[in-house]
Amino acid sequence: MKHLTQLPTWPVLKAHHQDIAPETMQQYFLDNPTRFELFSVQLSGLLFDYSKNRITEQTIQLLTQLAIDSHLPEKIEALFSGDSINQSEHRPALHTRLRDRQNAPIEVKNALKKMSQITQRLRNQSWLGSTGKPIEHIVNIGIGGSHLGPLLGVEALAPISNNRFSCYFISNIDSDHINQIVHHLDPETTLFIISSKSFTTSETLANAHIALAWLHQTLGQTDLSQHLIAITAAPDLAQRFGIPPSHTLPLWEWVGGRYSVWSAIGLPIALMIGIEGFYQFLNGAHAMDEHFRYAAYSQNIPVLMALLGIWYINFFDVTHHAIIPYSHRLNQFPRYIQQADMESNGKQVTQQGDLIHYLTGPVIFGQQGCDGQHAFLQLLHQGTHLIPVDFILANNPNDSSNHQDMLIASGLSQAEALMKGKSEKQVLRELLEANYPMDQAKQLAPHKMLPGNRPSNILFLDEVTPFNLGMLIALYEHKIFVQGALWEINSFDQWGVAFGKQLLPRLIEAISMPDVSTLTDIDSSTQRMIKHYQSLKTTS
Ligand code: F6P
Repeated sequence: MKHLTQLPTWPVLKAHHQDIAPETMQQYFLDNPTRFELFSVQLSGLLFDYSKNRITEQTIQLLTQLAIDSHLPEKIEALFSGDSINQSEHRPALHTRLRDRQNAPIEVKNALKKMSQITQRLRNQSWLGSTGKPIEHIVNIGIGGSHLGPLLGVEALAPISNNRFSCYFISNIDSDHINQIVHHLDPETTLFIISSKSFTTSETLANAHIALAWLHQTLGQTDLSQHLIAITAAPDLAQRFGIPPSHTLPLWEWVGGRYSVWSAIGLPIALMIGIEGFYQFLNGAHAMDEHFRYAAYSQNIPVLMALLGIWYINFFDVTHHAIIPYSHRLNQFPRYIQQADMESNGKQVTQQGDLIHYLTGPVIFGQQGCDGQHAFLQLLHQGTHLIPVDFILANNPNDSSNHQDMLIASGLSQAEALMKGKSEKQVLRELLEANYPMDQAKQLAPHKMLPGNRPSNILFLDEVTPFNLGMLIALYEHKIFVQGALWEINSFDQWGVAFGKQLLPRLIEAISMPDVSTLTDIDSSTQRMIKHYQSLKTTS
């Protein structure tokens, strides 16, 4: 099989890149008043505008041909059919089965049923704490995929929650995090959800033990299981921790941690918005699955987004990608996608283990606009890096103030400014019109000049509903999948993070040793840092 750069379309795209690199998007818009119609797709409550990209119709034709030459259609079918596409772990990646409610496997249907029952009992207050009081506080303990998905869902959908519970998230091993949270809570009315696919993650287990001790402190040595739920693929380990099978919801090896929000890992979302809302969330993701699987590539939003990314990364040598939601409710979205994308496509070898000689997954960063605007957007406008942006806008029908107009206008104005820029000539003219003396105007003009021609996508949601949020997350999952498929990498393993986890116990052990300088397996920098920490500990 030919590798990506050996495919016939690759050199054609290289030449095409040379041809259009000097062209400007602003000129494209002037030349073609229907450019938006040409480069936009509407799917349910999502409008995808990719007209502010450095592309022509030919670019899209060539990129889709590259996808076909890379066997993308077969790879998409392999994903949905449950082939063992995570080759280094000999597993399928079947998160799409979790949201296909009609055709889901029986174990998924049973898990959803159990999740629904638990949700109902907690929401209707028939699930009581050990002293007979109803649960009022939910604390999710988990990290990575066992944290970011529920956090995103709970924050994004807060306005439709019935506010029955207050919901908190603990991920970091720093005890400041858990102590800060439990400080405000009443153990009698608090439920901890211990979310860990493996039930071996150090951060999660350390926090779970603190939580248990905190419960015991007030409630005594009674049965505390009413205050604990586990979500895990290792129920035996949860039981050893003290959580009975009746309070344990399952997860399966074929669901990657960063793809698990569709499983019982999403329980905090269901608790906050109700199980019907959670079903809507799944339905939205399923609608995106169907679109991804069956829509023509020229209308296929995840495929188009992925190909645009490849266009910039592999032909313009772009290394970063920004995600900026102009929606407070989606503030966690960039963090969520950061894990989904960087853990999936931060790879340097093909599925077969050959070293790759082209760029793969970009550095993903971002935060909500307008905050991001007043933090890092300067570099995107005038810095030396070319960084494509996804602007995510959302209508908020509950906001009748002019804040919403300002928010939407802010996002649109940034996309426009990135695209148009401002020439030195234009800046000079404006300065002279503002009565600057010529010498000062000439000095200032290069500083105020913006190169423009910087690309962005706009994703506009009708509203942040459970359905639309499900669609949006699934869209990015499939974008990541398509890029991984073309780069020929395994988007479903994470051996790099696993190595960090492996080193941790040895260093914890070393910190308690009197003389680390004798340890030949630990480098001198790490030894000196441990000694420094030991001396700080003894003096504090
Ligand atoms: O970051 C590595 C990772 O394995 C993620 O993929 C996962 O979401 C996270 O750790 C937490 O793992 P677990 O759910 O097993 O505690």
